[in-house]
Amino acid sequence: MPDIENVLKEDRSFPPPREFAASAVLGDASEVDALRKSALEEPEAFWEGVAERLPWIERWHTVLEWEVPFAKWFVGGKINASVVCLDQHLEHRGSKTAILWEGEPGEVRAITYAELHEEVCRLANALDGLGIAAGDRVAIYMPMVPELAAALLACARIGATHSVIFGGFSAEALRDRIQDMGAKCVITADGGFRKGAPLPLKPAADEAIAQCPTVEHQVVLRRAGNEVAWVEGRDHDYAEIVAAASPDHEAVPLDAEHPLFTLYTSGTTGKPKGILHTTGGYLVQASYTCATVFDLKEDDVYWCTADIGWITGHSYIVYGPLSNGATTVMYEGAPTTPHPGRFWEIVERHKVTIFYTAPTAIRTFIRLGDEHPGGYDLSSLRLLGTVGEPINPEAWMWYRKVIGGDRCPIVDTWWQTETGSILITPLPGVTAAVPGSATRPFFGIDAVILDAEGNEVEDGQGGYLVLRTPWPGMLRGIWGDEARYRETYWSKYEGLYFTGDGARKDEHGNIWVMGRVDDVINVSGHRLSTAEVESALVSHDAVAEAAVVGRPDEVRGQAICAFVTPAGGVEGGDDLAVQLQAHVTTEIGALARPAEIRFADALPKTRSGKIMRRLLRDIAAGTVPTGDTTTLEDFTVLQALSDSDEE
Ligand code: WT7
Repeated sequence: MPDIENVLKEDRSFPPPREFAASAVLGDASEVDALRKSALEEPEAFWEGVAERLPWIERWHTVLEWEVPFAKWFVGGKINASVVCLDQHLEHRGSKTAILWEGEPGEVRAITYAELHEEVCRLANALDGLGIAAGDRVAIYMPMVPELAAALLACARIGATHSVIFGGFSAEALRDRIQDMGAKCVITADGGFRKGAPLPLKPAADEAIAQCPTVEHQVVLRRAGNEVAWVEGRDHDYAEIVAAASPDHEAVPLDAEHPLFTLYTSGTTGKPKGILHTTGGYLVQASYTCATVFDLKEDDVYWCTADIGWITGHSYIVYGPLSNGATTVMYEGAPTTPHPGRFWEIVERHKVTIFYTAPTAIRTFIRLGDEHPGGYDLSSLRLLGTVGEPINPEAWMWYRKVIGGDRCPIVDTWWQTETGSILITPLPGVTAAVPGSATRPFFGIDAVILDAEGNEVEDGQGGYLVLRTPWPGMLRGIWGDEARYRETYWSKYEGLYFTGDGARKDEHGNIWVMGRVDDVINVSGHRLSTAEVESALVSHDAVAEAAVVGRPDEVRGQAICAFVTPAGGVEGGDDLAVQLQAHVTTEIGALARPAEIRFADALPKTRSGKIMRRLLRDIAAGTVPTGDTTTLEDFTVLQALSDSDEE
């Protein structure tokens, strides 16, 4: 990135502007220090106080039951997420905009809390009429439209566990997830708008459902107007069933530990994991972090640009902002459609005050040129945020200067699908932000950096990021796979949660997350497992063997590079590469499509037959393979791979 200043050592620090601190939700540094200390000493008392912010239907009798690795928070409490997000606001905020939506073609809808409440009640009644009840699972496969948020809340209202599958996933990926959770109902749309054209969804849902015997009903929103097939009795028109349903619905009081949703994410083996989140603890933490990290005020216009298909959208487009009675902006389409300034046009039009996006998006905007944000009035912005991967300090500085006008604090928020909420972050009214660092653990979060033996590393040294004590929004398990839950998160360090990330702490106590230490790659802020992409490749007839690694990518953070050994008699080449890219898109979705495919007669392996990915990573990155190669079985393989690089 030529037009960005380069710095070697990061010693810049940006304390909160005085005026920001003066009116911040948390603006008094000594108060915050005291709170930090007491929350770490007595986390249960701290979270109990936070839980009191929410409208419980019945109070809990026990704050925490912790039997490693299973936590139960606010035991005995009854709550309903849709009441927390909607009903509690009806009296004072009924006519306030809850969702401010823009469709990609340009429509704008402002939906009030009263209107959203009515929509959710009607949909809850309609689902009830289809026989969907508490404990059933509902898969949601929709574009970014207000009805998607309504679908989540309607499921929550009746106690059905929702599982949103990102619209970019293929029919095969959708099928695997529906089968894993045993969903009874699918809520989808004909399609949505993406990059100027309708992107069909129902055809993929139909294809998936054909192999999912548990699915009894499909609710279909007409959004994009593309033609769709229809199965009478199974398929129901969203608008029709919502119009026919009663607007009155009494929310079901649910146990604090009732499963609110599952969300699938990648791990080191091929099969995606259904990360389970429950109701009470998740809401307590998502709501409070949203209020404090984003410094939410009554008249803010808050925009998180994520898709609701990811955890960021769950916690910080839907449950966090709505539980706080905020106005949350939702945008359907691509950031550069129909022009490269679309995001900034949205900021100007709606006078967005808080803006939360991903480093990959920021790097894309840097490339597109400063003239695009420069063409719009961004003076409404007062706070910026990032999430998804480490942000390079240069991109951070650009974000601060060009988008934030050198006046907005930036919160670099570290968290995971599994954590449910932000766990490491600056607090914008008190923390001095440092470009590239997520800074400090949030209240009550005991995050440490350990070496392989489990000892805390010294400041400045790298190690593994570990969480020592439970937190309310933590995952409660992997759907249907307790052994994998124990193995993935709780086996590296007995009784401690292993994040899978490497990190280091500097001499000021700031945490620098360095990225994954396992075979998981982070493409555009989304986790993909190398094993998943490999198994998609190997399922193609022309492939004998495949190894997938990430290589650094200026815009996406990491890009997928696949090393493929063709099956006997098959010739590798551009044609096959294109076919394989298309094949992975069909099997998983476009986000998993390898950026590069290299063919090789053999892959570097150890004598025991394990592919040496470390070497492939170096080759993919264009550097000379370093480190120990004594276990390599056949040295000529490495030579051949490196040679092919120079062609
Ligand atoms: C992984 C989690 C949580 C929402 C989006 C991704 C990386 C996330 C940061 C950050 C450095 C970050 C980590 C983490 N990550 N935020 N601010 N700085 N790295 O959710 O798909 O569950 O991925 O994203 O590696 O483990 P996810």
